[in-house]
Amino acid sequence: MADKLIIFDTTLRDGEQSPGASMTKEEKIRIARQLERLRVDVIEAGFAAASNGDFEAIRLIAQSIKDSTVCSLARANDKDISRAAEALKGANSGRIHMFIATSALHMEKKLRMTPDQVFEQTKLAVRFARQFTNDIEFSPEDGSRSDPDFLCRVLEAAIAEGANTINIPDTVGYGVPADFGQMIKSLRERIPNSDKAIWSVHCHNDLGLAVANSLAGVMIGGARQIECTINGLGERAGNTSLEEVVMAVRTRKDYFNLEVGIDTTQIVPASKLVSQITGFVVQPNKAVVGANAFAHASGIHQDGVLKARSTYEIMRAEDVGWTTNKIVLGKLSGRNAFKQRLQELGVKMESEAEINEAFARFKELADRKSEIYDEDILAIVSEEENTHENEYYRFVSLSQKSETGERPSARIVFSEAGQERTSQGEGNGPVDATLNAIESTVNSGAELVLYSVNAITNGTQAQGEVTARLALGGRIVNGVGSDPDIIVASAKAYLAALNKLHSKSEKVNPQYSTGANGPSNGMTV
Ligand code: KIV
Ligand code: ZN
Repeated sequence: MADKLIIFDTTLRDGEQSPGASMTKEEKIRIARQLERLRVDVIEAGFAAASNGDFEAIRLIAQSIKDSTVCSLARANDKDISRAAEALKGANSGRIHMFIATSALHMEKKLRMTPDQVFEQTKLAVRFARQFTNDIEFSPEDGSRSDPDFLCRVLEAAIAEGANTINIPDTVGYGVPADFGQMIKSLRERIPNSDKAIWSVHCHNDLGLAVANSLAGVMIGGARQIECTINGLGERAGNTSLEEVVMAVRTRKDYFNLEVGIDTTQIVPASKLVSQITGFVVQPNKAVVGANAFAHASGIHQDGVLKARSTYEIMRAEDVGWTTNKIVLGKLSGRNAFKQRLQELGVKMESEAEINEAFARFKELADRKSEIYDEDILAIVSEEENTHENEYYRFVSLSQKSETGERPSARIVFSEAGQERTSQGEGNGPVDATLNAIESTVNSGAELVLYSVNAITNGTQAQGEVTARLALGGRIVNGVGSDPDIIVASAKAYLAALNKLHSKSEKVNPQYSTGANGPSNGMTV
């Protein structure tokens, strides 16, 4: 029988460490629900000790996810481990994932600990975690650049103390496939109790080799867990991309002979959700989830595909969740049809009142746009959820003027804590004028670090979806807005980002955190 390959998703933890990808707890819960629909085996929901926001997100995810194991990262110390255990209390199945650096460079320069101290700390930490759970994962950070003899000593001790998953991180994306695979193989062969643990790989993509290294870890090294993220999101150049490893293993079952439990039809919806929430646009030629991944432009290819699909296609678009843009609803569709479509799309709305509000927005959109697609419905739902989170500012109306040879101007009406405000502004273009108009009243002082527009569906009738990323005082937030009018979508996105900045519950991005859990003590990930 084929072995099972465990898919450990760390979009909500390592993925969130991408500068600018920070998510609110509500957004994390939405992604966690999609990961559960995707049937990932383990969801690393965050790093409980990093901030109260992360702790709370893990706690809520642990309570609401039933089918996947929920995991929290922790440094190998009692305080972090207790915090992780506390956050995971409500989980059906919870895992503590602890790490400590083992490379000479990290131990000396970052931890300022001797190898013996790291060895002792590993034993103490795994022993301490055992009182909370039997599901313990241990990672020697910067593993691929660690001395193999020292790694053997530390990992043998971690397993002896009760760690049952051993994860080898290629923290800085330094590994190359055959070498990295061989390293895992040799660790497994040399460590006497290696068979008591499942071996895992966690690869970063600095050299574009994360997927190849992970698969080499599996094929050469015998690893049976891959840590990965949706769209390959993650620190710097990102992590191993989930969709690529899963589809490689599925498509080349003849070679890998491994089972993965993933419902592949949920891959594209997961990719779109993560991209929409983080504002990280998926490049069109990205494998599996890029807009062009299944597009055949050359005549020879088109001809071949029409004659026999397998001439140029190794996967079927529908198997990874691509749907042909189907017109699903229109102006005359009623509330029941709308509600049913929400259910079919896997959208859970908490109350009938929320469905009513979303339905009202749908009707408003259907009045302006005759054809409503699934993507439009999902955009309405996202906006609804964002609106419910922290609505301090709300878009009301906009008029703007731009004419060749004249400086564009905008007049916007929005509410601030329920009070209507009107402001005017000028700018280089209509979007600039609109955002200047908002700022002239709000005076947030935030810096716009990213502005991007995407068409949600095809054609000029499509809604534009805008992401505005704002940075202020070490915090980075993303706001998303959609509308058939991209200037209105821009205003909505900007106000959504301001709402997040305004919300006090919003956490500081992990990569900017300071103090006990921050860079000052050299223990960041
Ligand atoms: O890249 C890394 O080393 C990590 C570990 C915490 C697993 O993210
Ligand atoms: Zn990592």
